[in-house]
This record gives sequence, C-alpha cells and structure tokens, in this order.
Amino acid sequence: MRRMPNSPLLPLTEDHLAKLRGLLSRDSLLTDRADFGPYSHDETEDLRSSPAAVVRPKNSAEVVEVVRFAHTHRIALTPRGAGSGLSGGAIPAHGGIVLSLDRMQQIRSLDADDMVAEVEAGVITGDLMRAAAQIGLLYGPNPSSFDICTVGGNIAENAAGPLSLRYGTTRDQVLGLEIVLADGTLVRCGGRNRKDVAGYDLTRLLVGSEGTLAVITAATLRLLPAPAARMSLLATFPDLESAAAAVATVCREVPAVAACEMVEAEAIAAVASLETVPEPLRSAGAALLLEVHCDQAEHLMSIAEQILALVEPLGSSDLQVALDEHDERKLWHLRRQVAHAVKSLSVYKEVDTVVPRSRLAELVRAAREVASQEGLKAICYGHAGDGNLHINLLRGTLDEERWIEARDRAEVALFDRVVALGGSITGEHGIGWTQRQHLARHTPPELLATMRQIKDVFDPLGILNPSKIFLDQHPDSEQETAEVSS
Ligand code: LAC
Ligand code: ZN
Repeated sequence: MRRMPNSPLLPLTEDHLAKLRGLLSRDSLLTDRADFGPYSHDETEDLRSSPAAVVRPKNSAEVVEVVRFAHTHRIALTPRGAGSGLSGGAIPAHGGIVLSLDRMQQIRSLDADDMVAEVEAGVITGDLMRAAAQIGLLYGPNPSSFDICTVGGNIAENAAGPLSLRYGTTRDQVLGLEIVLADGTLVRCGGRNRKDVAGYDLTRLLVGSEGTLAVITAATLRLLPAPAARMSLLATFPDLESAAAAVATVCREVPAVAACEMVEAEAIAAVASLETVPEPLRSAGAALLLEVHCDQAEHLMSIAEQILALVEPLGSSDLQVALDEHDERKLWHLRRQVAHAVKSLSVYKEVDTVVPRSRLAELVRAAREVASQEGLKAICYGHAGDGNLHINLLRGTLDEERWIEARDRAEVALFDRVVALGGSITGEHGIGWTQRQHLARHTPPELLATMRQIKDVFDPLGILNPSKIFLDQHPDSEQETAEVSS
C-alpha cells in the first residue's frame, strides 16, 4: 500500500449516502440526524461530536462493504461498541461514519475442550461471562460496565476490571481476531492455539489499538476453569493511605485474592447519595473490597483468617465476609456504582493512573497533594491490586475558566508524578480523544514515531478513528466539540 499519511478526509455527501444505501440492508444505515444522539458521545464528561451517518452492520460482510466504501471515498470511520468508554475513543471526532458493531451479537461457539469462545464484536461482555459460566468456565475480564459494554469495545480499549488482578486484562484472553483492514480486506490473525510464535504478534498489537488500526468484527477468547469456591470480603480502614499501604501485602501473601478494589470515603459518600450503603462501609475512611477464588470451599474461612491477620496490624478497623450471594452482589454493585455516582455529583475529570502496586500509597499521597495545590476535590478509587487508581477531579462550584485551568494543571502534575513513580498515564481507559496531549509525557519520542509509522502502515489514508491516540492526524478537519454539561 502507498503511504499517504494525513491525506485529507472528505465530507459525506448525499451522493455518498445514496451509494451506501445500495451496499447495505435497509435497516443497517441511519441517516436521520434525530437518531445520531447516542452515537455522538461515550461516557466521557462534556464531549460530543456528531456523525454524518451511522452504520449498524448485521454481519462481517456488511462491515467489509462499509470499510471499503470509506476507504474508496476517504471518509472518516469510527468503530463503536456500546459507547461506555471514558476517553472519547468511540466519538466521531471528524464526523463521517460511525460503524456501530452493536448488532453483531452472536456467540459463534463455546468450546469446553479447547476452552475458547468465538464471539462477534457486539456480544455484551456480561452475556459472555454468563454463557461461559453455564459450561463451568470463566471469562475473566469484568469491567464495571459489563452489563452493557461489548467484547469488541473491550478489545479495542484493552479494558479490564476487578478480576484482572488474577486473570489478566482483556489482552490476556485474546487468542485470535477477525478484522477488517482499512482497505476492506477481511482477515484473521491468531486463532485457537494456546501457543503461536509465527511472525509478529499482530493480535496483541490490535488489542488496545482503539479502532485506529483495523475494525475488529469477532474474537477467539480464552476461557478459564471457574473457581470451585468464592468469597467476598470487605476490609475497612481509617483512611485511604492505610488502605493503599495494605494492598501489596495482601496481594503478595494471599494468592487466592482474585480482586482487590479500593474506595475512599468520598467515593462511598457519592454512592450513598444515590442509594443505601450499609455499615461498616458507610462510615469507613476507606475500604478494600476483596474477592477470593479457591478450589475448596473448606479453605475459605482459613483464607479469611489469614487476611484478617494481615490487615489488622496494618490499621484495618474491621473485616467482614459477605455471608450470602445477596450480600456479595450488593457489595460489588456498590463498587460498580462509583463512577456513575461521582458523575451525578459534579462535572469532573477522570484521570486514570497506574503505578507498580508497591507505589500505590505514594500515588494516593500525590493525588491528595496535587488536588489541594489546585484547590480541587479529588475522589480516588479503583483496582488497587493492579496499582490502577481512578482519580476523579471535581469541578464543584468553580467557574468554567478557573475549573479548566485548575483541572488541566492538576492533570499534568498528576501524570508527571505517575511517570516519576514508574507508572503510566492510563491503566484501562485508553488515550482516545481526551488524553492525546499527554502521551508524549509517558512515551519516548522514538517510540511515539514508531507507533505513528505503524498507524500509517495499517491505515495509510488515516480513515480509521482519526484524531485518536495521536495529536497530529488531520488536525484541520477535526470537528468542534460541543461542551455539554451533564
Ligand atoms: C470503574 C470504571 C470507571 O472502575 O473503570 O468503575
Ligand atoms: Zn476501572
């Protein structure tokens, strides 16, 4: 393919639409602006951009048609799952076509012997988790949005969740992908093999590529043995610093810990403003929510005692075991509500940070210091076992100008501190549209240039999800973003 990086993108015209209609089944194409609302945003605060058309293909063959069309006519094409992302990855920054994979919901096969699932990109992650459970297996990644998000979106963003501590992120489950390249070629990479070192590992490269290299239409995913026994525990602490300091010890000493999540008092209070939060969580300064997986139910109580013996000397004021499935579901539901609860409190900025687990307590202190320097409130929570802290900066009552200045300075200061701690500027939410200006803070220029070259090899015309990850692509045709208050 000839390299033509940054060639101009063209607007979608009535003539294009007429051609598209001829290529797709009738209900696969939306052209009425009144239908574009849901496709103009994801879960990122204050960020919108409208497409000029939305295609909701029924199958891979229709994806091929629309990608080939976009390539021929140089139209921006933004692949999309459920739009639950938090860095603007699924928003059509240049208008053009949104390619929503949400109707491709088929679980093509579940194979208990090979322990793999083959699923279309639009399968809801929770549906895959339940289907795997029905044959006694486990699909590991459980992002907070698992009830609505799609496997394809998870792969594009390399999403994770609490159980990633034990089972790895989405990337660790992907054995193979069915993709459509930028020129419309349908191809498979990887497959059902547990081992495969034939050539470069393009499968791993595509995971987390945020729709900028190819369109993912289906995936072959690793399933795992389901744990025979499970238990959830809640350890409360007087403050966030002591909870953070306990994380490395608990994860090191208790290999059965499959998830180790952390929430601070302000996050708990945010959830309590929406629904009942029981004691002792309601009055805790901070809490660790743990899930233990093991082979024998008889071991559960001794594991709980081991955890108690570890967290008590580290300042935990209370350790409770969820007594039944109802208790357990309630605890995890409360944890998953945090993002939504913070959003309902105030305009905010999500800062997704990750550091080596042993540096988590320092990261928590850095978050406190930076927020107080800027006069902002920060609410911290996240996947503590993975060193992944979501720091939410709240606008509160600040006026627009003061908020934007303080927010931007705080974000830069936080990322500088994160990088100094050996961490990264996003653990699971991606660079997308909102974090592009920070990538160079973390990634050396030589590697950034190599990434840019990779983008050009996969997508020489720059049609696939333009203006994501990189700052310099098609800056002139990027759409104005509408700032909306939620
Ligand atoms: C969570 C999402 C926001 O951890 O990543 O709840
Ligand atoms: Zn998260």
